[in-house]
Amino acid sequence: MVKVKLTDTTFRDAHQSLLATRMRMRDMLPIIERMDEVGFFSLEVWGGATFDSCIRYLNEDPWERLRTFKKHMKNTPTQMLLRGQNLVGYKHYSDDIVEKFVEKSVENGVDIIRVFDALNDLRNMELSIKVAKRMDAHVQGAICYTISPVHTIESFVALAKELEAMECDSLCIKDMAGLISPKAAYDLIKALKKEVSIPIDLHSHCTSGMAPTSYFAACEAGVDIIDTAFSPFAWGTSQPPTESMVASLEGTPYDTGISLEKFTEITAYFKEVRKKYEGILDPISEAVDTNVLLYQIPGGMLSNLISQLKEQNALDKYEEVLKETPRVRADLGYPPLVTPTSQIIGTQAVMNVLVGERYKVVPKEVRDYVRGLYGRPPGEIDQKIMAKIIGSEKPITCRPADLLEPQYELMKKEAENLGIAKTEEDILTYALYPALAPKFLKGELQEEPLRSPKTAGEEEGGIPTEFVVEVDGESYHVKVEPRGGFIDIKEQEPEPQKVDGGIVAPMQGMILKVKVGVGQAVKKGDVVAVLEAMKMQNDVVAPHGGVVKEIFVSEGTTVSPGTVLMVVK
Ligand code: CO
Repeated sequence: MVKVKLTDTTFRDAHQSLLATRMRMRDMLPIIERMDEVGFFSLEVWGGATFDSCIRYLNEDPWERLRTFKKHMKNTPTQMLLRGQNLVGYKHYSDDIVEKFVEKSVENGVDIIRVFDALNDLRNMELSIKVAKRMDAHVQGAICYTISPVHTIESFVALAKELEAMECDSLCIKDMAGLISPKAAYDLIKALKKEVSIPIDLHSHCTSGMAPTSYFAACEAGVDIIDTAFSPFAWGTSQPPTESMVASLEGTPYDTGISLEKFTEITAYFKEVRKKYEGILDPISEAVDTNVLLYQIPGGMLSNLISQLKEQNALDKYEEVLKETPRVRADLGYPPLVTPTSQIIGTQAVMNVLVGERYKVVPKEVRDYVRGLYGRPPGEIDQKIMAKIIGSEKPITCRPADLLEPQYELMKKEAENLGIAKTEEDILTYALYPALAPKFLKGELQEEPLRSPKTAGEEEGGIPTEFVVEVDGESYHVKVEPRGGFIDIKEQEPEPQKVDGGIVAPMQGMILKVKVGVGQAVKKGDVVAVLEAMKMQNDVVAPHGGVVKEIFVSEGTTVSPGTVLMVVK
């Protein structure tokens, strides 16, 4: 009898999808050993946004978290999600950092590494796969699932064969937006089973409501592993419930062989944990949303678009943006909408509608995407639009990371100079989050307080200004401020400045880099600082020229829209 295996995601994707990755280790620890006894194929416990969230919000050392999981899991492999060359960050890292990070992940306790790339560009995955193999980890090569004229069963099968040839031990179809229908799942898994011999995992989200049915269809087509989460943290933008899938498959040829009795204690435990987190459970991420199918816009991205429009006082443009988003995606070669491409496409669509002329204003990330710096898009980028965005410049054709100089030794030196490099893991933490890590590693950060359901309810009366926005399972804490917006738009509509000659932050975020020093001359349009907002790097440009008289911020400073960063006169 074919037994379908389960990967349980409660410790990673489930709370990333529903709780903005805020589950504390102390709330997971007491149940790990019971989870370990169930007989899962693996428990997904690390990677994705957990690394970021541990440092940014929870004041937990992500490496320590990993070691703790490993210590308590004697029977079940630990699994992590790795964004290929982006590791657990949002940009490409140099090869020496990727190598070190994968080595340390395995050394600290990762057994299975699921590797993906937002563009399914295997060149962005090859190094992490190679290093993980060398470290004797189980490598699960993941393909981002999406729907477009260039994403055919043949194209997915071709990718799968390449991943198998790269010695992946298993394959994952990663349907991060919950787009896969039962028929599509059946046809795809059936075709893959014919062409590849490694086990196949289907990873989906309940966003559109189809995932449990699609899982069953995948079982009929021969899928080996499905991803589920315990019911208190299932449904919505999370995975289908572990308990329900086990019950549904009982007595079928796909029986998991797991007894439901094993779940009683675990389900009861997570029900209690859920109560603690009720205050940050977003109703949007719990609802079924079929717009994801109409516009192929993931649920979280929709709420992101809405808040961007609200900020600009242009909610009446919502329908227009909904229609514009698939057009932008088509113009740019149909990237799957997952971090970071979902932000790239969504932001450009909003710009196009608000500015009233398509591609008149183009953020840095979109330019970089068109330049090929994120990798090769699945389809062709429209030539006219490419010319409008980068002029006569030719996109790169090499592997993007080939352009990056080695960074590890440099980061090591910087971390040592800051006095924060106790271990190689610390150096990696610094290399990945250079603005946050120093404060974290010096113990200057505090765990954010958990909002109680009562407090959350009270807020509903007023105007909400903070949202947790989900984009394909990535959670972003977004503060909406009345004067937020994009730098280029601000340039067109200059705001009155409070300080004579002051350059202000265009949106809420954290200063990543201050690019100028006091006494330095700058020209209009020069980049004076880099602001990280919603995980995107935004250049702050000088609206006027002059000499830098005073600087009020440093790297790591959190700013609000309108905060005066410096004075240039
Ligand atoms: Co997911």
